[in-house]
Amino acid sequence: MVDKALLNHPLLTTEDEAVYTPEDHETWSILYNKLRNLLPQYAAPEVLSGMDKLNITKHEIPNFDSLNKVLKRETNFSVTPVKGLIPHEPFFALLANRCFPTSCFIRKREQLEYLVEPDVFHDIFGHIPLLVHPVFADFMQEFGKQGLESIKHGINDQFAALYWFTVEFGLIHTRQGLRIYGAGITSSIAETIYSIDSEIPNRLAFDMIRAMKTEYEIHHMQKSYFVIRDYQELFDTIKQINWDMLKENLQSRSFIPEGKVLTEQERFTA
Ligand SMILES: [Fe+2]
Repeated sequence: MVDKALLNHPLLTTEDEAVYTPEDHETWSILYNKLRNLLPQYAAPEVLSGMDKLNITKHEIPNFDSLNKVLKRETNFSVTPVKGLIPHEPFFALLANRCFPTSCFIRKREQLEYLVEPDVFHDIFGHIPLLVHPVFADFMQEFGKQGLESIKHGINDQFAALYWFTVEFGLIHTRQGLRIYGAGITSSIAETIYSIDSEIPNRLAFDMIRAMKTEYEIHHMQKSYFVIRDYQELFDTIKQINWDMLKENLQSRSFIPEGKVLTEQERFTA
């Protein structure tokens, strides 16, 4: 069981404090319109169907209660508002309780394409749609449980790298070709196009330890993406962690600079 004290971080808030101005809702509409038209050619089908089920529309920033009704019904997940980035421990504890902490502010007009901190557009448009997918929702809960374990073993930074290369910047192989499931990509217009169409970045077959040892930069588009075959692959990988073996493996390998490909066999092939 997760320690309930971890679920009471000071940055957690209540939705009553999320007061949006008409300009905030308009910012949402501008971003929504640009990305929603683009995504059918780029995003995984589960992202698009999740948006439809949650009734995420261009009109306004969705209400947490209405999102929670759908999440509860579909996968027993929920969202809870936060005032900023929370540390690893309460973050993992919330996931382990099938709850996703979600920002309740939106970016300014001059930050339409990029801002460092996750805002409500990144969190709701990017992350929440996949939480209606049963396997992905189970993976997120398991990620939280194993994330708490990673803290005990002193490798939570490598767990953060794994989160980065999957939940934030992951690609998936589908019958239609490569598609995006990572929220860091689906909430960015430029990276949505770049991650799929550009010849610049590497697309590597997903490998948990390789991802954990890969360096990344948060201020520019990624030089390498990891491609999964399905969400079950994510769940199974993380569920089957053997901590002694994982620690030994991580210790025996060097960190790999972003963009570096060690062997041609690392590249994803359909
Ligand atoms: Fe995110």
